[in-house]
Amino acid sequence: MAEMLSIALPKGRLGEKVFELFSQAGYDCPELRRANRKLIFENPEAGVRYFWVKPSDVAIYVERGAADIGVAGKDILLEQAPEVYELLDLGLGRCRMCVAGPRSFRDDYARTLRVATKFPHIARTYYGSLSRPIDIIELPGSIELAPLAGLSDVIVDIVETGRTLEDNGLAPLTDIVPISARLIANKARYPFREAEIRTLCTRLEEILKDERSPL
Ligand code: PRP
Repeated sequence: MAEMLSIALPKGRLGEKVFELFSQAGYDCPELRRANRKLIFENPEAGVRYFWVKPSDVAIYVERGAADIGVAGKDILLEQAPEVYELLDLGLGRCRMCVAGPRSFRDDYARTLRVATKFPHIARTYYGSLSRPIDIIELPGSIELAPLAGLSDVIVDIVETGRTLEDNGLAPLTDIVPISARLIANKARYPFREAEIRTLCTRLEEILKDERSPL
């Protein structure tokens, strides 16, 4: 039997939506629907093996070829710049990367701007394009606290509903880039699995097109 296609999915709400999409496309995996704490699931009949991966690790699994393909947020792809093919925008997990801060914030160009973020590369690239000197304060989470506690002037972070900012008296100040989930593939393995991956992409695209159709 042909080798199974291995697929790295981002563990959590987004991964569950992505898995439903893959199931509809013919790549179901009944074992994965049984609630347990396993991280690897196979369906040899459909020719797929799924890995449940921490969302920020998906690109590493795919770049290194541990998974043939995977689904990662555009935020992770911009931040980590992995050597992978980006094949398809799944349109799921839509949000935006923003500069946010206190509503009253006015940038003072006489001072270096203190920016708290878990996306230092994106922040550096964005402010570099404006030739604005910044001091990056890298934090792993709860970034919104930084300007409130006086640790930073602004943050660069994901905004989905805007609720976290609002509840903390902050506001989006500038949109940097729209974000959504992308299907990615390992560059070295792609030529060997091209037919299967193309079939998968076509099936996913058909479902996405139907879902977006106004009829
Ligand atoms: C993200 C982001 C914001 C929040 C935005 O955090 O860092 O805190 O979601 O969502 P909202 O606009 O709908 O309020 P996440 O939930 O990923 O947790 P983290 O801070 O631990 O990374």
